[in-house]
Amino acid sequence: MDYTILGRTGLKVSVMGLGCGGPSRIGKGTGRSKEESIALIRQAIDYGINFIDTSEIYGTEKIIGIAIEGMDRESLIISTKKQTMDRITPEKVQKSLEKSLKKLGTDYIDIYHLHAVRLKDYDYLATKIVPTLQELQKEGKIRYIGITEQFISDTGHKMLQRALKDDFWDVMMVGFNMLNQSARDRVFPKTIEKNIGVLIMFAVRLALSRPNYLKQVIGQLIEKKLVNVSNINEKNLLDFLIHKDGAENIIDAAYRFCRYEPGTHVILSGTGNAEHLKSNIKSFSRPPLPQEDLIRLKNIFKNVDSISGH
Ligand SMILES: NC(=O)c1ccc[n+]([C@@H]2O[C@H](COP(=O)([O-])OP(=O)(O)OC[C@H]3O[C@@H](n4cnc5c(N)ncnc54)[C@H](OP(=O)(O)O)[C@@H]3O)[C@@H](O)[C@H]2O)c1
Repeated sequence: MDYTILGRTGLKVSVMGLGCGGPSRIGKGTGRSKEESIALIRQAIDYGINFIDTSEIYGTEKIIGIAIEGMDRESLIISTKKQTMDRITPEKVQKSLEKSLKKLGTDYIDIYHLHAVRLKDYDYLATKIVPTLQELQKEGKIRYIGITEQFISDTGHKMLQRALKDDFWDVMMVGFNMLNQSARDRVFPKTIEKNIGVLIMFAVRLALSRPNYLKQVIGQLIEKKLVNVSNINEKNLLDFLIHKDGAENIIDAAYRFCRYEPGTHVILSGTGNAEHLKSNIKSFSRPPLPQEDLIRLKNIFKNVDSISGH
């Protein structure tokens, strides 16, 4: 496993992070047993993954707590989140954090995020809730403060563009993948300038992990004239990525595409399947996609900012 420094946090993190939410929720969303999920987390750590992402709303904090019990806490970077859909109060944040600490079996969270923040809630959260997070940081319960976007509805990163005007975010979780590359121009130049740690979500998600659905999604983009048909073979779509010097399959391409994008640090990978975990880890050990494939991908999807790949 390769490691990198997560921007201004200075934390040494694995370039692949275990995402414990998304469609799979480490198996909780796909019918796996608790024991299988625990084994999957331990397997990921054995392979060198030190970054684990969860949230109070995924229902996976407790499973992580059991899986990491007795391990060297300092060797792990734990990221969790406070949901922000209801108007949250400083008291609710404090209570949620205490619950997360208890479930995870730890005294501190490395990165505590405000989860899936909508643009319309941003100013309230920045003025009323961030000071509480900063207090909790002083108390040593949170090491760094993060924010995540609601990529399914905010596919053009409006909320994060607002958040980038403030200076208190150490880490941002950004939606980015081969289909929607809009963060390259709208988010990464500023995160690089401010040395903010960047976690990538939606690298694969649903469209890039289900071939028939991918056909449907790209078909809709062609219909809406968002991708130029002269750039893409309507029958083979993204199959040009798979060849001897290129990707092994679309999922391999998707993770390698994100991993080498300048400005990204940790690419989250969500699975409940131990075989998928192994094959995804292999993708992270492979080199960047060939330059000509990357240029072709950029050309095909350069005007797409209206889908998330969900
Ligand atoms: N706003 C937010 O804060 C937010 C929102 C979304 C996600 N996240 C975080 O980001 C993490 C990752 O994002 P994501 O959910 O978009 O996950 P992802 O890693 O992009 O994709 C996960 C999907 O791909 C499948 N998959 C993974 N590897 C595969 C393989 N080798 N072969 C076939 N299928 C494969 C998984 O199913 P299997 O279980 O079958 O492998 C799952 O359906 C989440 O877990 C969560 O921690 C945060």
